Amino acid sequence: MSTHKGKEVTFSQSEFLVSTTDTNSIITYANDEFCRVAGFTAQELIGKPHNIVRHPDMPKAAFADMWGQLKKGNSWRGMVKNRCKNGDYYWVDAFVTPIYDKDKIIGYQSVRHCPSRKDIASAERLYQRINNGKKPFPVTEHILFQRTVAAIVAIALLGSAYWIAGMTMFALVLAALINLNSG
Ligand SMILES: Cc1cc2nc3c(=O)[nH]c(=O)nc-3n(C[C@H](O)[C@H](O)[C@H](O)COP(=O)(O)O)c2cc1C
Repeated sequence: MSTHKGKEVTFSQSEFLVSTTDTNSIITYANDEFCRVAGFTAQELIGKPHNIVRHPDMPKAAFADMWGQLKKGNSWRGMVKNRCKNGDYYWVDAFVTPIYDKDKIIGYQSVRHCPSRKDIASAERLYQRINNGKKPFPVTEHILFQRTVAAIVAIALLGSAYWIAGMTMFALVLAALINLNSG
C-alpha cells in the first residue's frame, strides 16, 4: 500500500534537480532547485547520506538495481519518489551516472526532471505491486488464454494413448497457474 502521507510537491518541466555524492553516497553538492523542492538547505544536505530523502514507498529493489548498474560503471535511469523534509513527497525521473577521474569512479551524480502524470501513475502501480510482494507485471489475458488452451490439450491427452505426455503437460500447467496466483 502506498503511504500517501503528506502532499505532492511538483516543479516545473524546465527545472533540473541535481545532486552529487562521493562513492559512499554522501551528498557533496545539491543545486538550489533540489534544495527548494526537498525543503532542505544545502548545509542540511551536504555531508549526509543520500537516503535522507528516501521515501518509504520506494522499493528496495529499485535502489538495488540502481547500485548494481552504478557499481559496474553504468548509468541508471528510473522513477524515484522522494520524501521532503516536512513529510511531503515529489516524483522525479532520475538519471544517475558515475563521475570518473581517469578510469576511477570518484563519485556519482543525479540529474532529475519532472515526470509526466502518466509515468508517475505507472511507477506508482509498479512499486505498489513490488511492495505487496507481487510480480512487477500482471499476467496478461494473452498468457491466461495460452495456459487455458494448454490445460484443455493436457486433459484431452490424458484420455488417450499419450496419457504420460498429458500428465506431464497438466503438471506444468498446474505449476504455472499456482505461480500465476502468487503474482
Ligand atoms: C548520486 C545519487 C543520487 C541519489 N539520489 C537519491 C534520491 O534522490 N532518493 C533516494 O531515495 N535515494 C537516492 N540515492 C540512493 C541512496 O544513496 C540510497 O541507496 C537509497 O536511498 C536507499 O537507501 P537505503 O539503502 O538506506 O535503503 C542516490 C544515490 C546516488 C549515488
